This record gives sequence, C-alpha cells and structure tokens, in this order.
Amino acid sequence: MTPFRIEPLASSAAACAALSDILIEVVAHGGSVSFMHPLSRDAASRFWETSLASADRGERIVLGAFDRDHLIGTVTLLLDLPPNQPHRAEIAKMMTRLSHRHRGVATALLRAAEQLAIDRERTLLVLDTAVEDGASGLYERFGFQLAGIIPDYALKPHGGLTGTMIYWKRLLAPASCCIMSRSLPSS
Ligand SMILES: CC(C)(COP(=O)(O)OP(=O)(O)OC[C@H]1O[C@@H](n2cnc3c(N)ncnc32)[C@H](O)[C@@H]1OP(=O)(O)O)[C@@H](O)C(=O)NCCC(=O)NCCS
Repeated sequence: MTPFRIEPLASSAAACAALSDILIEVVAHGGSVSFMHPLSRDAASRFWETSLASADRGERIVLGAFDRDHLIGTVTLLLDLPPNQPHRAEIAKMMTRLSHRHRGVATALLRAAEQLAIDRERTLLVLDTAVEDGASGLYERFGFQLAGIIPDYALKPHGGLTGTMIYWKRLLAPASCCIMSRSLPSS
C-alpha cells in the first residue's frame, strides 16, 4: 500500500513554493532536469508559475506526492503536443526529495501519470533521462523501450556534458491497428 497520497496540483503560492524547494534541492544534488546549479528561487518560481498556469489550462498535469502535508515528489504529464500527435503524451520533471528516495514515490507517480494518460486515450508515452544520474532503471522496470542515446546532449547541473536516453512506451493498441487486423482476410 502507498504510504503517501498523489494528487494533481493547481496554481497556488503554496504549490509553487513547495515545487521550487524540490527543484532547487534536486538540481543542487546533480539531478538533470534542465537547470544549472545554483538555481535561484526566482528562476525556480518562474518555472513552476508557468508550468502550473499551463496545468490550469489543461495542457499538462503536474502531480504531487504528499507525505501528510509535505510535497515530497512530483512528475509532469505533458499533454499539449502538436496537432499531428494527439495520441501522445510526455513524462517530464520526475523528482523526489532526498529525504524520501527509495520508498517508491517515483514509482507511484509514474503509475499515476500513466493511468492519467490512458484515461485521456493517449497511446504513446515518451520521455528522456540523463545517461549519468538519470532514472533509466525506473523507466525500464515500467516497460519503457530505449529508442537510443544522444551523446553530449546537455550539461549536468554542476558542469560537464552527459548524454540523454530517449524512451517510449505504448499504452494501448491504437484503434486503427485493431480495425486493420480485424479486417484482414482470414485465408
Ligand atoms: C529518479 C528519482 C525520481 C527516483 O525517485 P524515488 O522516489 O527514489 O524512486 P523509487 O523509490 O520509486 O525507486 C527508486 C529505487 O528504490 C527502490 N524502491 C522502491 N520502493 C522501495 C522500498 N519500499 N524500499 C526499498 N527500495 C525501494 C526501487 O526499486 C528503485 O530501485 P533502483 O534504485 O534500482 O532504481 C530520484 O532519484 C530523483 O529525484 N532524481 C533526480 C532527478 C532525476 O534524475 N529525475 C529523472 C529525470 S528523467
């Protein structure tokens, strides 16, 4: 049983502050989540204000994992993709506070994000994670397939380049495949 609760976050000063705390801590400890160390509180707040406003518009879902009233983890499900990719969603900004790692928080967040994608009839999930200090083990346990590695893709928070691993996972058989296979001649 999950000893913490997971819920979608909407714009609020409290949510923005708690998400900023996590982001600053994760970046300071080498997490590759698009930012460099030291990450200022202003920059972290600006990022989450924009992200939560996007969530309010239904373009993404920012999930929070809570231990009592404390935000201890987060993941974002990006839904607002180009018009020719309405079946797809992306996983981003997966982070757990140092104090709560290795307790299944990220696993529970990923499971919840997948279910939300399925609920929205998304059939393909895509994500990327750093080669060094990334979360490839977590995603592979969830059945994500490695499409490939791009070397020297981004700077690590404390400097030095690292590659990125691109993953994908089908969530449901696309309806068109089912229709096609049903209409094949039996011969
Ligand atoms: C990657 C990250 C989100 C994982 O968070 P987490 O909450 O510790 O993840 P989980 O607890 O679900 O799983 C992590 C490990 O703990 C293990 N675990 C899960 N529940 C456990 C439990 N109850 N007891 C002991 N171990 C457990 C998992 O098997 C897993 O093993 P692994 O280290 O071999 O992969 C976290 O390390 C982080 O924030 N990293 C920095 C940011 C980052 O790199 N994010 C990914 C960007 S794509």
